[in-house]
Parts: sequence; C-alpha cells; structure tokens
Amino acid sequence: MAGRIPPEFIDELLARTDIVELIGSRIQLRKAGKDYQARCPFHEERTPSFTVSPDKQFYHCFGCGAHGSAIGFLMEHDHLAFREAVEELAQRVALEVPASGQPVSVGPDHAPLYRLLEQAAGLYRRQLREHAQASRAVSYLKDRGLSGEIAARYGLGFAPPGGDFLLSRLGVNQDQRGQLLRCGLVAEQDGRHFDRFRDRIVFPIRDRRGRVIGFGGRVLGDGKPKYLNSPETPLFHKGRELYGLFEAQQAEPKLASLLVVEGYLDVIALAQFGITNAVATLGTATSSEHLQQLLRRVQQLVFCFDGDTAGRAAAWKALETALPLATGQQSLRFLFLPDGEDPDSLVRREGAEGFGELVKGAQPLSEFLFDHLSAQEDMTSLDGRAKFSHRAKTLLDRLPPGVYRDLLFKRLADLAGLPTHSSAGPTRARRPRLQPGRPLRLSLIAQAIALLLNYPELAAEATQVDEDWRRSQSPGVDILAQLLENLTVYSSMNKATLLERWRDHPHFAYLQRLSVDPFLRDMDAESAAAEFTGALRRLSAEVRKEERRRPFNQRSTSDWSPEVRDQVRREAEAARVRRDSSE
Ligand code: UTP
Ligand code: MN
Repeated sequence: MAGRIPPEFIDELLARTDIVELIGSRIQLRKAGKDYQARCPFHEERTPSFTVSPDKQFYHCFGCGAHGSAIGFLMEHDHLAFREAVEELAQRVALEVPASGQPVSVGPDHAPLYRLLEQAAGLYRRQLREHAQASRAVSYLKDRGLSGEIAARYGLGFAPPGGDFLLSRLGVNQDQRGQLLRCGLVAEQDGRHFDRFRDRIVFPIRDRRGRVIGFGGRVLGDGKPKYLNSPETPLFHKGRELYGLFEAQQAEPKLASLLVVEGYLDVIALAQFGITNAVATLGTATSSEHLQQLLRRVQQLVFCFDGDTAGRAAAWKALETALPLATGQQSLRFLFLPDGEDPDSLVRREGAEGFGELVKGAQPLSEFLFDHLSAQEDMTSLDGRAKFSHRAKTLLDRLPPGVYRDLLFKRLADLAGLPTHSSAGPTRARRPRLQPGRPLRLSLIAQAIALLLNYPELAAEATQVDEDWRRSQSPGVDILAQLLENLTVYSSMNKATLLERWRDHPHFAYLQRLSVDPFLRDMDAESAAAEFTGALRRLSAEVRKEERRRPFNQRSTSDWSPEVRDQVRREAEAARVRRDSSE
C-alpha cells in the first residue's frame, strides 16, 4: 500500500483544482445561476438534476444522490482508486504527490514493478507461440474450446518448465532479483530463488487501468495445485481485484450489468461465447470492497454459484456481505447452476442464448434470503415462524435505511404472519415523514454539522454562542468540535477540502450524505446562520437541562456551566433561607 498522503497536500490540490473545469472536461455543463448543471453521468435522466457548485467545489445530483469533491468525482466517474484520483488531479495542476514519510515498505514508486510485470506478461505470451513445449499448452487451450483471438484478448501466456525462465531473463542482477521477488514472480526457499510459475498456462491479472499486477497459472492437466496465484504484493491485493473487469470494460464501455463467477476460465469461456461482462474473484470470497467497486459501475450484479452445498454457502456469504450495500436501486441477483456445472461448462452446452436465459431467471437477493431462511424452519408452526422471523430481522437490520429496507420488513411480516409494526422492532425507530426543508429527521448535532459543511464561514458564529453544547453526550459532538477546530486552523476551507480531511474516518460516508441533506435545500446564507446558531443554542439548553436533572453525586462541579453553578447556588441559598426561617 502506498503511504498516506498528507492532508495539507489534498487541501492544496483541491484549492488549485477547479471542479467545474474538471467535470466540464468529462461532461457538458450549462451555467444555471451561480452553479452549473448537467444530465447526471451516474444515472439515466432526461432533465438535468446534476449540479456543480464552484463555491463549494462540490457536485451533487438531486436525482440519484451522487455527490462529492473533485477527487470523489474522478473516483466515481473514471473508476479510479483514491490515490489514482489524487495523482490524476495532481498531474492536471502540475503538483507532485509527495512521497510519504513512511519507511521503505511503502516505497512510493511502483513504476519499476509495473514495468517488470508487463515484461513478464510479454515473455509469457511469446512462449505460448515459440517455446519448444508450447504445443502442449496450445492444445490444452484448444481442447477447452478457446480461440487464438480470445487468448490474445486476455493476454494468455505460457510459463515454461524449469525454475529459471524469468530469472535468467529479468533477474540478472541482485536489484532485479529483489524486484521479481517483490512482485511475486519469483519465490525463495532456503536461500534459493526460482520462478513461481512453471509449466503452467498463465493469466495476467490487470487492474482497472489495464496494468498487469499479478498472474494466475493453471497446470496443463490434473496436477496439483490446479491454480497458483500471485501472492499479496504492493500492487496486488486479491481481496480487492477482480479478474476480467478491465477486459469487460474494454469490450463494453457502458456496462449495465456484470456477472460474478468463480474461475478464470469461466470468465474467458463466457467471453468466447460473446458474454463479455463476467468477472471473477481470485480464489477468495466476494469482499465488500469487491462489491463496492462493482456497484459503482453497474446497475445489476448477478452472482453465479454452483448449485451444490459449497456453492450455496458461498452465495449466502456473498449475500451477507452485500446487505449493507443493498439500497434496492441496483439489482443484486443470484444464479444457482445445476449440480456439477460451472459457467464454462454450461455456456458450452447451452450456448450464449441458453446461458442468457438462465441469467434472466436469477433470483433477486430478497427472494434468496427469504427462501434460504424459510427452508431451514418449519414454517407451519408458530415456533418455526418465530425463529425464521428472528433470523430474517437480524439480517434485514443490516440493510441501509430506505424504501427497500421498509419493503423487505413488510414482506417479512407477511411471510411470518405478523403485523408490520412488530417486525420493525425497537431498533427501527419510526421516523416522521420528511417534509422538504423541515429538519425533523436530523438531530441538532447533525443539523449543525450539515450546515457547517455547506457554510464553513459559520465557524465564526460558533464563537458567538455559549459553548455548553460541547458537553453534550449526543453522538457526533466530537465530530462537530473537530470540524470547528479544522476551520479555526484553516479558515479558507470549503466543503470539498473540509470533507476530504475525513475520508479515512469511519463516518466519512455519513458526513458526505449529511452535507447534501434535503434539509439544506434552498437555504440562503442568512437563514443558514440562524439555523446554525439556533441548533447550537438548543443543544446547549438541552445540555443544561440534562445536567440539572442528573443527580448531584454524578456531577463534578468542574463541568458545570456557569448557569448551572448559579442555579445550584441559588437552590442551596433558598434551602438555607427556608431552614433558617423554619427555626
Ligand atoms: P475451480 O476449482 O472451480 O476451477 O476454481 P475452475 O475455475 O472451474 O477451473 P477449471 O475449469 O478446472 O480450469 C475456481 C477458482 O478458484 C481459484 C482460481 O481462482 C479458480 O479460477 N483456485 C482454484 C485456486 O486459486 N487454486 C486452486 O487450486 C483451485
Ligand atoms: Mn471450470
């Protein structure tokens, strides 16, 4: 992993970047008042609801809710990782991303490693045509029904037998040897070095930009292990990478849907039949990071799993990982293949059309969830239904709040034969319906944070009101205080720079969402100031009230507000007067 980029650099980078110009270089923007508008690049729409604000250096779509800074836009639109987006922006404004001050393990310059992997891929490809033993590899691929064209598209190669093919070509000196080790092409045992991939068909694994970052290698026949993969390296993290994603996007830049399969050869065989939108995890379970990447790109994901027990267990795991990301705005479906089949064997038997039909019939996430759970209980008995409903509720609780979640709870109530409200349970606080412009839904702290993010100049107002709110026990007080502190130190921050400082914070996503909350809509600077100080005053009042209510022995006088101290003094005085007069 590359080291942390200093926050001051991000500030500087965003200060030099004009988000209007950046987004304008990708999509057509039209001036509308002091902002710019366009049809949203992240969802289909006829009338523009995508807005870019030069003041805030922030974009927001009122239609689909997409929002963020210039960095966020590049990550979403160009599908870049955070660091890649930063590098891209830095290049635009001629800044150099600082090398991190971290120790050697986070060495900043990976260029030599990328070069080396690319060279290795080239050498392997050439061996598939030229090596004396390559005919075995070629006929293996032919037997599996793959054409030369598809092999070329996926860059397939042949790693010759023996242990020093790459070593002899790319690892001549100590330095090169070290790099081969670092990118996982060479392994070391008892002080000896040897090529990791030997006598195998190799599949280069490419990142989102098409750079080779690792390899998979299959034996030609029945040897073991069947597949070898690159180990974790500075460039390759299998919990993050998806085989075939780059190729899928090359084949179809505007992807609408992706199939998630299990194997390299599933991806390739499907492509051979014209189904170019399959990706595979690399011998690992589908991670949340995988899913987030995929959901940033497409409207529909279809997971293909074996129909056997192991396949069902893997599918269930994928479902559990997907729950927190399931908003209902994208379709997540599960396809169970007949026993003993994989996408490779199936597409060869059924053809592209037959396979397509199967995909169409894939089960929606909700259906898989309820089917799977109800199959495990006796749904004709009350006890069974109670158990079912308890397990389902635990899972549904992981869904993000929203209509989809509400609908699934309703469905659960129907299935379990319960009235809806008891299925909601105490964890699902009933919320008043949101009226646009009415801050009913947000806590006082959340309102204050939302306002501050949009009108950083309000930080000055905070010094005008009393600070009892700082002692509030409500969640988020620390965040509000921290934001104010950021703004005292760097008063020129705008929404984008302010938010970027929070990117690594567990509540970053929440802060981003708050920053575009509908309650802010159409608010001018003046009413924002009034709302902000109002929220702080009400919070302070709540704190004082709470502190008065707290029993004496739980209070420490040092955290009393002057007002509380006054009040306590007055009460004590009154008590003394009463005592005196009763004597
Ligand atoms: P499978 O065993 O299902 O094989 O592995 P497959 O993809 O159908 O392979 P073929 O058709 O026999 O060639 C699925 C995936 O699991 C990982 C690989 O990523 C493979 O594509 N795997 C499998 C390994 O990493 N190591 C292994 O030994 C086996
Ligand atoms: Mn297979």
